[in-house]
Amino acid sequence: MLYEHLGINEKGHLTIGGLDAVDLAAEFGAPLYVLDEDRVRANCRRYTQAMGQYMPAGSQPLFAGKALCFKGLYPVLKEEGMGADVVSPGEIYTALAGGFPPEQLYFHGNNKTDEDIQYALDQGVGHFIVDNPLELAQLNHFAGARGRRQKVLLRVTPGIDPHTLQAINTGRIDCQFGVPIETGQAAAFVAEALTMEHLEVEGFHSHIGSQIFEAEPFCDAVDILLNFAQDLREKLGFTVQVLNLGGGFGVRYQESDPQVDIPGNIRALAEHLETGCAAKGYPLPRILLEPGRSIVADAGVTLYQVGGVKTIQGYRSYVTVNGGMTDNPRYALYQSPYTVLPADRMDDPADFLCSVAGRCCESGDLIQENIHLPQMQRGDLLAVLTTGAYNFTMASNYNRLCRPALVMLREGKARLAVRRQTFEDLTACEL
Ligand code: LLP
Repeated sequence: MLYEHLGINEKGHLTIGGLDAVDLAAEFGAPLYVLDEDRVRANCRRYTQAMGQYMPAGSQPLFAGKALCFKGLYPVLKEEGMGADVVSPGEIYTALAGGFPPEQLYFHGNNKTDEDIQYALDQGVGHFIVDNPLELAQLNHFAGARGRRQKVLLRVTPGIDPHTLQAINTGRIDCQFGVPIETGQAAAFVAEALTMEHLEVEGFHSHIGSQIFEAEPFCDAVDILLNFAQDLREKLGFTVQVLNLGGGFGVRYQESDPQVDIPGNIRALAEHLETGCAAKGYPLPRILLEPGRSIVADAGVTLYQVGGVKTIQGYRSYVTVNGGMTDNPRYALYQSPYTVLPADRMDDPADFLCSVAGRCCESGDLIQENIHLPQMQRGDLLAVLTTGAYNFTMASNYNRLCRPALVMLREGKARLAVRRQTFEDLTACEL
């Protein structure tokens, strides 16, 4: 099994957090997003404990809501001592509706509209992560109009390629996020920010990419950021209090993916930072990290009912499920690997080579290709693992399919956190 919160019971059914997947599908329907809250909490603690132990006081993990965002998640994050990274007024609204304290929010985005900026200010969002000089001026203006001094971090790009997928790599210089250090533009950006009367610059933000398994690329980013900070300290007399190193630690989608030692990586990063600061005589900044995937991905499982099995003689076999790219577009978009399990017949020999297709009218609607499952029948239950991140949040209503429900599991009990959409929901905005 990919994770220890998954198991097989005496009926040969998959269990998630000790609960029978077949029972969950029978009670809540399929397709179904299942989220093991105990696992989410354990993942949060890997960050809070290691950061508390190894990093300067005040260091904190911020959960990146782009990975998963619904009201019921935010009380969990709050209880676990997480801050939160939000990228839109919709995410801010959701976090606050879930009772999350606004001062613990960090507002991201490379194109915050005037409405977004004003909304976030009026909600009392703790920090803005300012992406570019135009936003700086606008935020200064709106903060001033409210007689406020807004705390900000400035997003810079250190120009690191952590050898990850091009489409989800944002640390390189040539990208639409942040201001590059190498070209000298970031230095001008900081100098300008320091002149803004209504902004309090606490430090920098950088995000180098996703699915990173080692501490090394983050250490490289720290080196670049510290050199940059040192240079600015000499030139501008500005000392960084906070370094936000973004998200990006990887998760295991398949057995062949490496295990990620999050506490070990945090410790390595902390030691690297300490050595770097000591060598420069630079005061240790607080560290923020923005994990998304590594908090929720492995806590999530999607359950689908099998509708049909089709063998194209001489070519291949398709198993079709009652969801697909509408609830999980990641294979269609990135050819992302997944582990697919036969949730109702875990003990049967997996001797059937097939591809799992969704139900949309689109040949690219695939969940996984060329995998081994037992012989499938209509009505069987398939489980796709590691779907807690970037599935629910990237879902669509293509082909007017209703979005699945989401259930949260805690201490052996399941509760509905997001109900399944209805046909009325589909036309709710239509006049
Ligand atoms: N902070 C910033 C500024 C980010 O841009 C991201 C992800 C994160 C934190 C969280 O990174 P994580 O820990 O989840 O890797 N839709 C793609 C992922 C796009 C990620 C973009 N930014 C996917 O499905 O793989």
